This record gives sequence, C-alpha cells and structure tokens, in this order.
Amino acid sequence: MLMGDPSSESSLEVLLGSSQVAARVRELGDEISRDYHGRTPHLVGILKGAWVFMADLVRNLVIEVTVDFLGIQSYGAGTTSSGEVKITKDLDVSIAGRDVLIVEDIIDTGRTYQYLQGVLSAHKPKSLKLVTLLDKSSHRAVPVKADYIGFRIPDVFVVGYGLDYDQKFRRLPDVRYLRGVASVPHPSRPGW
Ligand code: IMP
Ligand code: MG
Repeated sequence: MLMGDPSSESSLEVLLGSSQVAARVRELGDEISRDYHGRTPHLVGILKGAWVFMADLVRNLVIEVTVDFLGIQSYGAGTTSSGEVKITKDLDVSIAGRDVLIVEDIIDTGRTYQYLQGVLSAHKPKSLKLVTLLDKSSHRAVPVKADYIGFRIPDVFVVGYGLDYDQKFRRLPDVRYLRGVASVPHPSRPGW
C-alpha cells in the first residue's frame, strides 16, 4: 500500500548515501579494470537510468574504453516490466567482435536484460557482460545474472542517482526509496 505521495521528495528515505555509492563504484572500476586488462571493452549504457552511474564508472577505470548508448522503453503493465521493449535509440557503432559490457541502473524482474541479451548476442560480440549498480534479485522473474553488482537491494522502489519515478528524482545524488512501498504502482513509463 502506498503510504505517501510517491511524487513528493519528502516521502523518500535514503537507502544508499552518495559516499557509499561512490566507494562502491570505485571498487567496481578497479574490478572491471583488472578483468579487462589489456583489452578495450565497449561500454553500452542503457538510457535513461544508467547514465549517471556510467559517468562515474568510466572515471574510475584505468583501462581504455569506448562507449555507446542504447535507449529503450519498457512496456510494463502495473508494477513489473513485461520484457517487451522498444528501442528508442539504437547503437551508433557495431558491437561485432567487441568485448561488450552493458551498463544498467537496476535489474529487477530481469526481463529487460533477458531481451537485451538476445538482441545484442545476435550481433556477435566477442563477449557480453553486464554491470548493474543495483540488483533486486528477490524480485527476479527470469534467471538472469549480472557479472558485476554494485548493491543487492530489497524489493523496494528506488529513485535518485539516475533512477526516476515518472521522470522525477534522477538528479538526487544518492539512492532513496519510497517509504512503506514494496513495489510502486507506476504510471506508463517512457524512459525506464
Ligand atoms: P526489469 O525488466 O524488471 O529487470 O526492469 C529493469 C528496468 O526497470 C530498469 O532498467 C529500470 O529502468 C526499471 N526499474 C526497475 N525497478 C526500478 C526501481 O525501483 N526504480 C526505478 N526504476 C526501476
Ligand atoms: Mg533502465
């Protein structure tokens, strides 16, 4: 049940503070730099939610990378995504033969990433991995796993650090959740 107005900043509670997020993003940067040592991975950020995370992540890498973005819109009914995804911005360059690292804000049911895995594998990358800032693994509907996970979080609806509720709160420097809300009834969500 909805306790507060989800569109009001006062109904938000901090889940992960900005310095906690920054420290974890530094660790992910180290790990990815080690794993891809000697290679130039191609980072593909999923718009719009992942852009803030990706901007911080690349600045914590000590290996060369190239970047691209894929814009998607989920056709979610109710509180979960259906996995039916419309591409709103296609990739600019081919990923064939590249070490592709998808950058996501959050994996929830897993349906969006499952769809992306299918679409992107068809373009024959040399490797395809996923880094996600947040993982709501308890809410998974399909068996997908991220290769790098910033934080495992409970089944709450989160905003901030790029994530939105109805396009709001992306600017918040930390990750907050809507108090008393397990999963939030969301409006039609272009840009998820
Ligand atoms: P999935 O297909 O259920 O894994 O949904 C993944 C997408 O839904 C993410 O890329 C987000 O854009 C969006 N999403 C899922 N949970 C949340 C949340 O708690 N806050 C904001 N966006 C969310
Ligand atoms: Mg997203």
